[in-house]
Amino acid sequence: MNLFDVYPLYDLTPVSAMGCTITDKNGVEYLDLYGGHAVISVGHSHPHYLERITDQLKKIGFYSNSVQNPMQEELASKLGELSGYGDYSLFLCNSGAEANENALKLASFLTGKKRIVAFDKSFHGRTSAAVAVTDNPKIIAPLNDVHDRVILPLNDVEALRVTLATGEVAAVLVEGIQGVGGCRVPDPRFLQDANKLCKENGALLILDEVQSGYGRSGKFFAHQYAGIRPDVITVAKGMGNGFPIGGVLIAPELKPWHGMLGTTFGGNYLACAAGLAVLEIMEREKLVENAANVGGYLLAELASFKQIKEIRGKGLMIGLEFEEPVVALRKKLLFEEKIFTGVTGTHVIRILPPLTLTKNDATRFLETFSRVVKNM
Ligand SMILES: Cc1ncc(COP(=O)(O)O)c(C=O)c1O
Repeated sequence: MNLFDVYPLYDLTPVSAMGCTITDKNGVEYLDLYGGHAVISVGHSHPHYLERITDQLKKIGFYSNSVQNPMQEELASKLGELSGYGDYSLFLCNSGAEANENALKLASFLTGKKRIVAFDKSFHGRTSAAVAVTDNPKIIAPLNDVHDRVILPLNDVEALRVTLATGEVAAVLVEGIQGVGGCRVPDPRFLQDANKLCKENGALLILDEVQSGYGRSGKFFAHQYAGIRPDVITVAKGMGNGFPIGGVLIAPELKPWHGMLGTTFGGNYLACAAGLAVLEIMEREKLVENAANVGGYLLAELASFKQIKEIRGKGLMIGLEFEEPVVALRKKLLFEEKIFTGVTGTHVIRILPPLTLTKNDATRFLETFSRVVKNM
């Protein structure tokens, strides 16, 4: 059987990884400034992470969500403590798309409405409603194209005010920092207004923190720069450091009923062990602070690169937009300089390293990057 060929692949085969380093099948080492799409939070193969998961596997790996699993409560409690959302409730699932799908479903159930507002250049995943509110017609199949959605320009408060005034909107869905959209940061003022307008018009504000959450922005959640408390927050990616896990954080006034949401795999013992290990490491090694410090250093140094048209982002979520397409630049960094970066669209390089990135690693990147862009 062949693999269904949906991914363009680089000719590179990683076989092991440690911290911010990936080793390929030929023994060549790469500095990982991409974290496999912003997934690696606490670094590859962290000893505490390995120990937590292997110990758990020896006890019990899986049972259904019809029995008591105190690890889910432990995870919810630790997440509440570290994120500042101890009074919220947690629904556990398996991916970012699933987290958003459940958040949208929750909003629709609770408001009795079905219209969703999202923003230009958004990406929310590939399940039915999540992809319908993603601003990319190429990945929306006719089957998904049945949802009641409005896509507005990011940061346009007036457009949002008019759309919400209809009273027809169930939820406004916005990324803490747009990831696939090229690290576009919403104005704090826009998020504050969106929060207020949602409350006035009976809609829920959902913050998609799948990519920008879990410390990546230099705060636990990127929206915390705006000082707001949304009704619902979605997480995945860094939550499991590569183990598939997602979650929906839900404000205390939003009440569940049995059967409202559900999943077979969500919140299984192994996923909880991975999720707990991530939070324990983040706390012990002060990784949110590290993302703020090393990310701040990178952003400040990159500001002097004249070749970059625009620098966006916060912490270790950085987008570098160039006048010219960046495909060749990324290839050069990867194959000649052995540095993994990401791209989005044709003109933006994305830097999304593990949150354990050191200042030395960052300096190595800056020196290499400076040399490479000068010679392009
Ligand atoms: C902001 C955002 N939301 C949702 C998703 C979907 O997550 P997943 O691929 O885990 O379904 C992504 C993935 O890139 C994302 O960046």
